[in-house]
Amino acid sequence: MSLNFFLAFLLAFSFVQSQELSPTKIFLLAGQSNMAGRGGVNNDTWNMLIPPESTPSPFILQLSRNKTWVVAHEPLHKDIDSTKVCGVGPGMPFAHEILAEDPNFGVIGLVPCAIGGTNITQWAKGSNNYRHLVERADASLRSGGKIEALLWYQGESDTQDQTDANMYKERLYNFFTNIRSDLNCPNLPIIQVALASGYNPTLEEIVRAVQLENDLPNLQTVDAKGLPLEGDRLHLSTPAQVQLGKMLADAFLNNFPKPIQ
Ligand SMILES: *[C@@H]1O[C@H](CO)[C@@H](O)[C@H](O)[C@H]1NC(C)=O
Ligand SMILES: *[C@@H]1O[C@H](CO)[C@@H](O)[C@H](O)[C@H]1NC(C)=O
Ligand SMILES: *[C@@H]1O[C@H](CO)[C@@H](O)[C@H](O)[C@H]1NC(C)=O
Repeated sequence: MSLNFFLAFLLAFSFVQSQELSPTKIFLLAGQSNMAGRGGVNNDTWNMLIPPESTPSPFILQLSRNKTWVVAHEPLHKDIDSTKVCGVGPGMPFAHEILAEDPNFGVIGLVPCAIGGTNITQWAKGSNNYRHLVERADASLRSGGKIEALLWYQGESDTQDQTDANMYKERLYNFFTNIRSDLNCPNLPIIQVALASGYNPTLEEIVRAVQLENDLPNLQTVDAKGLPLEGDRLHLSTPAQVQLGKMLADAFLNNFPKPIQ
């Protein structure tokens, strides 16, 4: 009798263990270093401080580099932006804030795809980054769920050269339009971040103006200007990333209401 009970327990336990983790609401994270996360990174060393808003939760998963779902943990982009030192980014605080605002939201799946130092040309259709983003987005859907939005934070690398800054709008909008089309989701919500930093203040303003102008459907912008930076004056600090994550969550919940079931 007790042996049967033990065997039943063992069976149930191994069943739970072998259940694949899968999310119901999926978010793509792309762009450059401030999306990958450099909070707490100084002199190429991460201080390993994880704020409460970025701690692991069974309701927040991430798509690993090998395209399996695992419980999400900082640094979220460690195995994706793998040639750089990653720290705290906006993804975890974004997910925590959504769940705090809407406890019935469902299991969140984050798909890290950001690569530090990339300009907008390196995200154009045909580029490796673009291909990886589409591949990872497709893989994220294999266990069910729906892609809810793309979170995009990029443009610092386009503030070094006048032509790049002038071309930013055309290149960015081509990227948004192509990615929506290749994901078969022409109305995919996109939330982009207006730059907090750049290499040249004049060119940064040109890129920011494009981001703040925001004239595509289902595109929202949150402004990171003024959030505290690390010592390098380029990267958002950990508290800044926590705040940005909350801003992104509010932008999502306020602008992209639930579809009528
Ligand atoms: C980084 O290195 C510089 C130069 O060695 C030093 O002045 C600074 O205090 C370091 N910053 C941190 C956060 O360790
Ligand atoms: C995929 O990556 C995850 C997280 O790094 C790891 O736990 C898992 O064992 C890997 N799976 C395969 C099939 O390599
Ligand atoms: C973008 O980055 C690539 C690779 O670093 C570089 O070759 C290129 O000049 C940059 N700018 C543009 C507009 O492509």
